[in-house]
Amino acid sequence: MSFKKDFIWGAATAAYQIEGAAGEDGRGLSVWDTCCKRPGFVRDGDTGNIACDHYHRYKEDVKLMKKIGLKAYRMSISWPRILPNGIGKINEKGLDFYDRLVDELLDNGITPYVTLFHWDYPQELFKKGGWLNPDSSDWFAEYTKVVVERLSDRVKHWMTLNEPQCFIGLGHSKGVHAPGLKLDLSDVLCASHNALLAHGKAVQTIRKYSKELCEIGYAPVGVVSFPDTQSKEDIEAARKATFDFDGPSLWNSSWWIDPAYLGSYPEEGLKVFEKWLPKIGADDMKTIFQPVDFLGLNIYRGPRVRMDQNGNPAKVKKNVGYDQTAIKWQITPETLYWGPKFFYERYQKPILITENGLSNTDWISLDGKVHDPQRIDFLNRYLREYKRAAQDGVDAKGYFCWSLMDNFEWAEGYNERFGLIYINYQTQERIIKDSGFWYKSVIENNGENL
Ligand code: FCB
Repeated sequence: MSFKKDFIWGAATAAYQIEGAAGEDGRGLSVWDTCCKRPGFVRDGDTGNIACDHYHRYKEDVKLMKKIGLKAYRMSISWPRILPNGIGKINEKGLDFYDRLVDELLDNGITPYVTLFHWDYPQELFKKGGWLNPDSSDWFAEYTKVVVERLSDRVKHWMTLNEPQCFIGLGHSKGVHAPGLKLDLSDVLCASHNALLAHGKAVQTIRKYSKELCEIGYAPVGVVSFPDTQSKEDIEAARKATFDFDGPSLWNSSWWIDPAYLGSYPEEGLKVFEKWLPKIGADDMKTIFQPVDFLGLNIYRGPRVRMDQNGNPAKVKKNVGYDQTAIKWQITPETLYWGPKFFYERYQKPILITENGLSNTDWISLDGKVHDPQRIDFLNRYLREYKRAAQDGVDAKGYFCWSLMDNFEWAEGYNERFGLIYINYQTQERIIKDSGFWYKSVIENNGENL
């Protein structure tokens, strides 16, 4: 079998990266607004103040989605647009925006897949300790309830958190993403535990308040290694490297997924993090481990590994001049075969690729179009691998290309273009790139032409 008939073909964005309208209609500040003001935090001093101005241009953007033939759209909700202080007072105008956007999508036959948290954490809650505060998971549940009560008559697909490895790891340990902290590992693990509790409480809240039957998942990074050869040993080495621990690193899959999908932290992780572990309450694991319907994975790249003489995974040195995208991420299409395969084996949930794509040096050609053959080739290579995984028995639910449009790439500002649609940030003109038209044909053929 190839991709299933009802395979979900979509593209993804996140609120802070596209909406703009940062100071409008009562939106509160997020930690990204404040970090953007810090000199040197974001390349070229770029901010999300205007971004793609999607807040005002969402109708035009939905039209473009329709033109590309998207069946689904993965979007996120800005927490401080809904609750300017993070908790308490509700900003009706913020909710109205998502109301209109969801209606517009549905009117155009596009299914919304909504991520509740894609990194724009309310500044007011950060002041109270953010993810370190023991109440932080309840705050997230309160916000979730407000969103679900308003949208769940129409939104039936939810994701709780996007990439905790990044907002905790890059945001609270490395300090290169908002809120820009470099905390001790014990504090970082406390924040990570609270984020997992937030996931669990959000799932409970969605189930409790949703007006319709719905599907819920999570969108962590699928940190994946792939085997150098097809030998059993190398495959085992890649599997181990994907889920085991190579020291106390947060760039890992099982620490973030096992609790939510299997009900416990991985044994090995508990060992390597032993000295820094937070207090884990008696019922915490039960709270985190809620029934979910799919596993979302953001997969872009991963290392090639083989089994060494001692039976341990060893990274294979990259070739000199290896293939890479504009952001200097190595091109590894194999990760979209082995990732879905390994994660499906371990967690036994339908796999939804919630992000995959590349940044490319796109510009408007003399003919007025945007030609991006590299993106077509990249997506083709990755999607063929994903299709192979589906053929080999992985329950592949769908695929969201990152991204629908060029946008604010966090610490890199507007220097990286990941979109199927080109944005001219001076005029806000949108141009569907060649890859957007190519993706349309892939969708029409349900991937048979890959
Ligand atoms: C992921 C993020 C997404 C985008 C892509 C390129 O880590 O979830 O917002 O920045 O990378």
